[in-house]
Order: sequence, then structure tokens, then C-alpha cells
Amino acid sequence: MRALQLIAVNQLVLSEIETPSPGKGEVRIRLKAAALNHRDHWIKVGQYAGLFFPSTPGSDGAGVVDATGEGVDTAWMGREVIVNPSLGWGDSEHAQGPDFNILGLPRQGTLAESVVVPAAQVSPKPSHLSWEQAAALPLAGLTAYRGLFSRARLESGDRVLVTGIGGGVALFALQFAVAAGAEVWVTSSSAEKIAQAVALGARGGFDYRQPDWAKSAVAAAGAFSVIIDGASGSGLDSLLDVSVPGGRIVSYGATRGNPTSLAARKVFWRQLSLLGTTMGSPRDWAAMLAFVQRHGVVPVVCQTLPIERAGDAFGHLERNDQFGKVVLTF
Ligand SMILES: NC(=O)c1ccc[n+]([C@@H]2O[C@H](COP(=O)([O-])OP(=O)(O)OC[C@H]3O[C@@H](n4cnc5c(N)ncnc54)[C@H](OP(=O)(O)O)[C@@H]3O)[C@@H](O)[C@H]2O)c1
Repeated sequence: MRALQLIAVNQLVLSEIETPSPGKGEVRIRLKAAALNHRDHWIKVGQYAGLFFPSTPGSDGAGVVDATGEGVDTAWMGREVIVNPSLGWGDSEHAQGPDFNILGLPRQGTLAESVVVPAAQVSPKPSHLSWEQAAALPLAGLTAYRGLFSRARLESGDRVLVTGIGGGVALFALQFAVAAGAEVWVTSSSAEKIAQAVALGARGGFDYRQPDWAKSAVAAAGAFSVIIDGASGSGLDSLLDVSVPGGRIVSYGATRGNPTSLAARKVFWRQLSLLGTTMGSPRDWAAMLAFVQRHGVVPVVCQTLPIERAGDAFGHLERNDQFGKVVLTF
């Protein structure tokens, strides 16, 4: 089969490798589409723990089961599925256990014609989604769902701020929070992306590059009861200023690195909850899929490219010019 292999830092090549066979309890999926996440970029540029060469990244995929391993119900054969990339979560809903890992490192990922995963990781493809839309959902959809519902315990009366709406998780957070009946605002470096977010149900947005964006946000929208952030860095401190007393700030990423300062007094005096979140449990996964079906959520695919053009696909992530997911087809 053909697979995109990282053979050295920043060197991704399309190689012919042996098609994997499913072991006990596993299925093989002939992939129709795979989607990129920021994680794939971190892996490509050598900034991810446990990196080895050659390796095939990719956490998101959708396709058809074409082989089953020992002990797996053969009724899976020929089924259209999507893959839950959150592997070995463990028993607790509070946090993942020591065996937790993410599809695409160390396990061979979805940027290949076939992928082998434990049968428990596959679910029927949501029927209202195309292959490309289904492939766009798993990692970012799961992360956004857990952040909003399991961690922040979102309610319909909440006023939500989602930072960096160009991000994959951010966009799902917007779509899910709107579907749940919350009032949603966004931040972005791009006026065009803010306009696209408004078309998806956001009330408006603010340019996080402006030094006084936090003041403008509170003046225009009022303070926020739930904030979903994947950027962190020096911007995290201003999120304390735009939060209501008792607000919940959910951090799922640190695209801008660690915060240089954090006003602890604001955190305790204003009773703020600073909540970390990563991927999701099997229960979060099932609840996310049910939510997507129930509300007819359609992931936003910004570009679909054939696997041969993976370099161009990664270019979107490097330049942050995407709005929605970048999808590769086989
Ligand atoms: N914990 C987890 O389970 C988990 C899961 C998924 C991702 N992540 C992490 O979350 C981060 C985002 O990943 P992703 O794949 O969703 O995003 P992505 O598609 O790579 O997009 C990154 C976005 O970050 C936004 N951004 C950049 N600088 C910003 C700043 N100073 N303030 C606010 N937003 C800023 C930009 O938004 P605009 O273009 O709108 O300006 C950009 O489009 C990454 O660090 C990733 O590693 C963690």
C-alpha cells in the first residue's frame, strides 16, 4: 500500500510499504479519506515526544473495513466506519490512564491507504456525512466535545468565547456550542474567518492581535461564562479578564507556548475554573457521535487534496490559512 512516511524531520515521502494485517481484536480499514491536525504538523517538524523514523502520522480517517482479526465479529466486514484516535484511555472519566496514546504515533496512522486499529476504536460512519466530512470529525470533534460538555459542562444559557477560530478544534467548539443553544463569540487574526464563523452561528468576533481586544469583547458581548482556548501563550492572561466570576476556562492546546504570566489573584478571587482537557474517553466519543447525528452537524472541510499533494496540505497548517479541516484522499 501507499503510505506517507516521515523519514526525517520535515521529510515526508509517499512510499510503498507492506499492507498491515489485523491481529487479535483488530480490524483493517481501507481508508477513503484522512484529515490533518496540528499534531501532524508538530510531528512533521520534530516537535513531538516519542518521534521515530520512519513513521506514518495521521489520527483522523474514514473508510471501509476490509479485514478482521481473530475474535472480531466478521459482520464488521464491508462496513463504512470512522476511527476513534483516542487509544487506551483507561477506566476513569476524569483523565486518561498510563496506556493512553493517539493514533498516528506511536501506532501507524491514517495517512496511508490502510490502517489497522483495535475493533473497539471503530464506529459506523455518520450517515449524513460524506467521506471527507466524516474523516474531518474524529480528533478535533472529540476534543471539542469533551472540552465543552464533559469539562465545562456547557448549558444553553452560557455565553461562550472560542479563541483562534481558524483551528480545527475551535471550529467544532463553535458548531457544537451553537447547536447546544449557547451564545458564541470567537477570536481570530482574520476578519474573513470571523465572517465565516458568523455564517455558522457566531454572534461576532474579535482580532486577538489587537492589544485592547479583551476590552472590546467585554464591551460588545459582555463577559463569558465558558472560554475554549488552544493558543495559551501570553494571551491566556487576558482570558481571565473576559471571564465572568465563576467562569470556566478550558485549555486544550498551547500553539503559542506557555503563558509568561498568569494573575493567580484573579483566578481565586473571581472563583475561576481553569480546566485542562485532552481528546476524550470512549464515553465522550459515543456521546459526540450521537450529538453530531442528533443535530446534523456537518464538519467544515476547507480543502480536499489527493495524498500525492500532502505537502500542499501541510502548508495550510504551517501558514494557518485554513478555515476548517484539510482532508487527503486516496
Ligand atoms: N489536547 C488535545 O487533545 C488537543 C487536540 C487537538 C489539538 N490540540 C492542540 O490545540 C492546538 C490547535 O490545534 P488544532 O489542530 O485545533 O488547530 P489548527 O487547525 O492547527 O489551527 C491553529 C489556529 O490557532 C489560532 N491561533 C494562532 N495563534 C493564536 C493566538 N495567539 N490566539 C488565539 N488563536 C491563535 C489560529 O487561528 P486564526 O487563524 O483564526 O487566527 C490558527 O488557525 C494545537 O496546539 C494542538 O496541538 C490539542
